[in-house]
Amino acid sequence: MFGARIAVAGKGGVGKTTVCGCLARIFARRGYTVLAVDADPAMNLWMTLGVGREVAEKIVPIASNEELVEERTGAKPGRGFGAVFSLTPRVSDIVDRFGIPAPDGVKLLVMGTVEYGGSGCMCPASALVRALFSHIVLARGELVLMDMEAGIEHLGRATARNTDLMLVVVEPSAKSVDVAAKISRLASDIGVGRVGLVGNKVSGEAHLDFLERASSSLNVELLGTIPDDDSLRQAEVLGVSPLDYSPGSSAIKAIENLANRIEELLGYSKR
Ligand SMILES: Nc1ncnc2c1ncn2[C@@H]1O[C@H](COP(=O)(O)OP(=O)(O)OP(=O)(O)O)[C@@H](O)[C@H]1O
Ligand SMILES: [Mg+2]
Repeated sequence: MFGARIAVAGKGGVGKTTVCGCLARIFARRGYTVLAVDADPAMNLWMTLGVGREVAEKIVPIASNEELVEERTGAKPGRGFGAVFSLTPRVSDIVDRFGIPAPDGVKLLVMGTVEYGGSGCMCPASALVRALFSHIVLARGELVLMDMEAGIEHLGRATARNTDLMLVVVEPSAKSVDVAAKISRLASDIGVGRVGLVGNKVSGEAHLDFLERASSSLNVELLGTIPDDDSLRQAEVLGVSPLDYSPGSSAIKAIENLANRIEELLGYSKR
């Protein structure tokens, strides 16, 4: 099986982390080797995955692991333009060394806050993170699911490059569809293989109609819809994974169906 990199993007609060974390565990249960990458500076994917708080509190994000950044790039973090450091640091062992074990065999890698300067300007931490992103895409035969920062800014950075499938989460709102339109336009510029919409927080026919119309006007397939489901909010209140809190809920079933559609798209249906 070829590896595939799936990025989850969309407007703030639409459900990116929920979709990303649940898909990661669902794919792992289906036998894939899954790496979940938290590329959002807010760093809360661990909770949706069901990593314990005691473990999460000890996570050192890659970008703020000063020893690692210095060891691999030859320069202290925080040095910007003008500092001499390696743009091709060795990263092949980082997933094994720094991947945090999550339920169902998922591994979690937390990138942290990376300062990206203006054009051509890079700091040692961003060089390391960039190298890591290209490595996990090219070298590992596995599924990588990335939880992206809200909005469109990250599309200009290394994080979004070489993505095989970008899932753009939308809710039934014109604003989230506007952001999705921008994302899908920019995605093709940076070599994203494919873009698909995921409709979230859907209740009733009017919402479904709205999302189907959005899908046809954007010319992007609606890969699945997830109902508005209070058990997801409850799980969030308690700080646990929705997969553990309400495994049989309608939202989780819908995310399982979304996983089926993604397998078809990636050509994995006849494993
Ligand atoms: N289908 C749903 N039904 C009800 N609540 C939902 C649903 N999907 C997500 N939520 C809730 O919406 C909130 C935002 O979800 P989530 O954190 O996944 O969004 P996000 O896009 O990652 O947000 P951010 O932009 O802040 O990273 C959470 O409280 C979550 O429980
Ligand atoms: Mg999020």
